[in-house]
Amino acid sequence: MNNFIFQNPTKLVFGKGQITLLKDLIPQEKKVMVTYGGGSVKKNGVYNQVKEALKDHDIIEFWGIEPNPTIETLRKAITLGKENKIDFLLAVGGGSVLDGTKLIAAGIPYEGDAWEIVLQGQAKESIPFASVMTLPATGSEMNTGAVISRTETKEKYGFNNQYPEFSILDPETTYSLPAHQIACSLSDIYVHVMEQYMTTTGQSRIMDRWAEGLLQTVIEIAPQIRKNQTDYNLMADYMLVATLALNDMIRMGVSQDWATHMIGHELTALHGLTHGASLAIVLPATLRVLKEQKKDKLLQYGERVFGITEGSEEKRIEEAIEKTEGFFRSLGLNTRLSEEGIGEETINTIAERFNKAGVTYGEKRNVTGNVAKEILRSAL
Ligand code: NZQ
Ligand code: ZN
Repeated sequence: MNNFIFQNPTKLVFGKGQITLLKDLIPQEKKVMVTYGGGSVKKNGVYNQVKEALKDHDIIEFWGIEPNPTIETLRKAITLGKENKIDFLLAVGGGSVLDGTKLIAAGIPYEGDAWEIVLQGQAKESIPFASVMTLPATGSEMNTGAVISRTETKEKYGFNNQYPEFSILDPETTYSLPAHQIACSLSDIYVHVMEQYMTTTGQSRIMDRWAEGLLQTVIEIAPQIRKNQTDYNLMADYMLVATLALNDMIRMGVSQDWATHMIGHELTALHGLTHGASLAIVLPATLRVLKEQKKDKLLQYGERVFGITEGSEEKRIEEAIEKTEGFFRSLGLNTRLSEEGIGEETINTIAERFNKAGVTYGEKRNVTGNVAKEILRSAL
């Protein structure tokens, strides 16, 4: 096991009706900007709950943070925040609203253009922020990450800020999620676990079993959610599994991959694919191309997650990869680039971008532009 420091200070406020606690969670003297997406919160009643809870606070609102939040939109929020001397931000919505808010929080005390913060990779200063999360997927509610897009140049990069002060997760807010969004989110959650698990064996029994438990939970709840999206306990597990998949808990002392995510971000930036949909295409292909390197872990994964114990190693590995692709297909997602109308041209663009930047992703730092090309070709 590698050395590590673990300190996750986000207060998780979980359950039915917990949005009312906002009035005590945000200090009364704060000047608050509440940020929203495109209006889902008005349809499902979350907006009214937030308004009611904050009726005695000094608040302004910012609307219109889009899926895959763009720097172009966020600059407007930063200007508004500076003008109004905002010193607390509350994101209400999905991961995009919160990710965007993480940049607004860093952009308000920053003198230059906020895109510089994204390129620097780590915010040096930030005002405090918190969330009411209505879409279980990103884990953004309990991590420091945020992914920001730039429409102008078709780029999409992650950066880190501090952790949210608190996040309120009420499973009832997920009852209104569209089926496709749920499918994409389950794919995202699954791949978050895989990025921190599908590396090498023997690093930590604890992290391995934790990860395998989360993967099995996602596989178990996915078909049940399709049947009954208003089962409270089911949706509670759905919300919690998303948070636990990416809140630093399952990465203690172990190596991580993240190549699938980095390639997926390019597909989103160039073609607008929803994040989870991009991962459903890239992950099986990554496993196919790197199956030699990941051999032992693929065998362990096949046995412990899918119960694959029969046949030669080669056959068991193939089966584990097929079952993984099958899981994404069972969600109703495409797993091939051709199904999305994406071909060689995009593959070459991504390979060129990676080669030009000199990136080396993956736990062995060997996913270069050329390897990314091989992965994407195997996803055609
Ligand atoms: O904008 P509104 O109207 O609110 O609608 C949203 C949006 O259209 C809707 N929605 C959210 N909650 C809803 C709802 N509709 C009905 N009922 C509800 N309860 O869902 C749509 C998608 O929302 P979005 O926030 O974009 O989805 P998600 O949470 O999956 O976030 C995706 C973004 O997060 C980044 C992705 O790259 C992408 O930009 N990621 C962030 C990470 C992080 N911060 O750690 C890690 C992830 O790997 C990921 O990269
Ligand atoms: Zn993700």
